Amino acid sequence: MRMVDIIHNKRIGGELTREELEFFVQGVTGGNIPDYQVSALLMAICFRSMAAREIADLTDLMAHSGEMVDLSPIDGFKVDKHSTGGVGDKTTLIVAPVAAACGVRVAKMSGRGLGHTGGTIDKLESIPGFRTALPPEEFFEAVRRAGLAVVGQSGNLAPADKKLYALRDVTDTVESIPLIASSIMSKKLASGADGIVLDVKTGSGALMKTLEDSIALAKTMVEIGEHNGRRTIALITDMDRPLGTAIGNAVEVAEAADTLRGHGPEDLTAVSIELAANMVFLAGKGSLAECREKAHEAIASGAAFGCLKRMVEAQGGDSRVLDDSERFPQARERCDLTADRGGFLLSTDTEAVGAASMMLGAGRETKDSVIDPAAGILIRKKTGDRVERGEPLATLLTDRPETLDEARRHLRTAIRIGQEPPKKAPLVYARIS
Ligand code: URA
Repeated sequence: MRMVDIIHNKRIGGELTREELEFFVQGVTGGNIPDYQVSALLMAICFRSMAAREIADLTDLMAHSGEMVDLSPIDGFKVDKHSTGGVGDKTTLIVAPVAAACGVRVAKMSGRGLGHTGGTIDKLESIPGFRTALPPEEFFEAVRRAGLAVVGQSGNLAPADKKLYALRDVTDTVESIPLIASSIMSKKLASGADGIVLDVKTGSGALMKTLEDSIALAKTMVEIGEHNGRRTIALITDMDRPLGTAIGNAVEVAEAADTLRGHGPEDLTAVSIELAANMVFLAGKGSLAECREKAHEAIASGAAFGCLKRMVEAQGGDSRVLDDSERFPQARERCDLTADRGGFLLSTDTEAVGAASMMLGAGRETKDSVIDPAAGILIRKKTGDRVERGEPLATLLTDRPETLDEARRHLRTAIRIGQEPPKKAPLVYARIS
């Protein structure tokens, strides 16, 4: 088999056989196909797309390019959750403890952030002592003890995807539904859970900017999951505004803890309840309405907050930060961005807010950037809020004072104020199952 024929076949709009895809995935994993040929095929897929059968085969082959995690040492139905990435998206830190408090087991592998969206692992590492690399037996024991554990992805999880993603990032071939769906789902299949809840973000801060594309991506991923024997549900949720009020690392953990104590922002609480209810539903714990009730009760009773505390302790972290956020590393510089006129907050360019937070040190510009756990942005006004001239719109936090001017400029252009209140947009647009 020759790679050039495979590229040709896809370039003229043909369907690749399983054998051709196998040759490609094995070649990528083993480093036997030069980057220019891999990139050429990726670009051809971007233009010509893939049939459902090709996507299913590609995903399966990428999942099997490395370790397939076996979660059978943990009893019960294991549910995973994945977000396509958003700004202020700390839902894993809320929904995993809520689901655990409802009797679901969550043995989760998460990623680090790159670009304008944050990663759960970076957020957790802002907790003093917290360990995100656990040997398998310790990982399983943490789940047995706390009902949940969240660790970093092992280096050998879908290694073909790791190589492909690095090339896609620099060849403008990220935005292709077959490539995104196979990338995400290969890691989910390899992670070993029985059920998967996908949070597909839509809007200015999301990978998919339109509802139509978000729904198409969600349907493709649900099909892949179900085809591979994993119960899969996707929710399409709003990312036209940051989720909650905290963007960063330590500040997001603190907001997640507040939400589990029942004092979270309305939007974050509502989206988290919906995601957690679907996780509990997948585990067969009742109708969706009953599972929603259980999720609310897990927060109201304090059981979910208790699960988060136990998880932090099981993974070596100092759980006192969850009761008292002053124990987190604090930013040396804090400054407000104030409104230059009165009116209503019309819209926020969420991607630009994420970029401003990254400039302050909360995210990574390159794989090797060092994160400042205390850096970030606290949102003071949300879309639809009335604003008086001179009122704070946001507070910027950093240890790098030289970044403040540019981050503030960026944030100012991201926020639009007008004289009429904007139309209220839904938080959850659709549920695909
Ligand atoms: N996240 C992934 O893991 N893969 C993609 O292709 C896009 C987002």
